[in-house]
Amino acid sequence: MPNMSSAAATVVDSAASADTAAPAPADRLAAAYRAVRDETERRAAPLGPEDQVVQSMPDASPAKWHRAHTTWFFEQFLLGPHKPGYQVFHPDYAFLFNSYYVSAGPRHTRAARGLLTRPGADDVTAYRRAVDEAMLGLFAEADDATLARLAPLVEVGLNHEQQHQELLLTDILHAFAQNPIPPAYDPAWTLSAADRSGDGWVDLPEGIHAIGHTGDSFHFDNEKPAHRALVGPVKLARHLVTNAEWLQFMADGGYRTPTLWLMDGFASCEREGWEAPGHWRQVDGEWTIMTLGGLQRIDPDAPVCHISYYEADAFARWAGRHLPTEMEWEVAARAGQLNDAFGLVWQWTRSAYAPYPGYRAIEGALGEYNGKFMVNQLVLRGSSCVTPADHSRITYRNFFYPHHRWQFTGLRLADYDS
Ligand SMILES: [Fe+2]
Repeated sequence: MPNMSSAAATVVDSAASADTAAPAPADRLAAAYRAVRDETERRAAPLGPEDQVVQSMPDASPAKWHRAHTTWFFEQFLLGPHKPGYQVFHPDYAFLFNSYYVSAGPRHTRAARGLLTRPGADDVTAYRRAVDEAMLGLFAEADDATLARLAPLVEVGLNHEQQHQELLLTDILHAFAQNPIPPAYDPAWTLSAADRSGDGWVDLPEGIHAIGHTGDSFHFDNEKPAHRALVGPVKLARHLVTNAEWLQFMADGGYRTPTLWLMDGFASCEREGWEAPGHWRQVDGEWTIMTLGGLQRIDPDAPVCHISYYEADAFARWAGRHLPTEMEWEVAARAGQLNDAFGLVWQWTRSAYAPYPGYRAIEGALGEYNGKFMVNQLVLRGSSCVTPADHSRITYRNFFYPHHRWQFTGLRLADYDS
């Protein structure tokens, strides 16, 4: 859950600094709300009712569930507590669409979300419309002082929905990748080639650097407290690792050489039968990749994608290099020295997802947003090609378990040799 006062500042304070033509706080909140809610529906629009039901693995959720869960979030944390007389849209929906908020009540089993053939996609559309109407009514009715108090919660809800917008696409890609007739979500979709311009390595001399979020702009609580960290000497690869480089790793027996792997990693590799990144398929002796545009030839110049931390770590060892820490990534990114820091693939770091010094989650159900996940996962930095455009920043800390590879995940290397 983000720092509440900062979140408020983003939505509300800009009115104070703007000229008299600036929209009223209620109008600004309504516009921000509509924009995010519409984007979710835009992303779901190519999906039919059957597409929206499928849960292809326990870690992924059905598109219909993403659409409903993000709606429940506003009902649970905004409308219920703050809109006088609000009646929930349906008495069962809190149970069906709560994700992991234990404090908010009992919930449906995560791995069984794909069994919810009902409520149907149209029912979820009606749910979204009803909650949207109530939310826009709340904005219109509340006085400015109330809006200033609610704006941080609204901003949490909108950033939460943006996270699910990314998941909606990664999850439907995983579902489509299980289909023998490789459906295309958007036939025109491709992953851009990596930017190979500039020198190969970014030098970071030893120094003490500020890490973490400062200022009043929106951020999640896991980006704070800002603190200082000793970084370097180290060199970070300016470029993302590409498919061409990954094919060399594969040709050199990378997936079959246990000495390159962490023990848990090689166990995953053997158990899952990994011999290439996620969503890769061999067709007529040639590697292809299942994408949102359907099955496509491997582009050697595109960044490698859909790899686990274990694979990234093995590749780095094979290359005689390392993975960077999240602090090293942040310092290099802040200096503007990394190509494709944002917008193509999340980049694994070797940093454990741990609290920054002095971190405490806030009290209440929204305190469950980030803090309780701070064990056994690794931090990824940057953003991906399916991250909403205004949902990335240098201090953003994404996190997944080391065996996960259905997200748009890649890597860049680090080198400690002079
Ligand atoms: Fe969520």
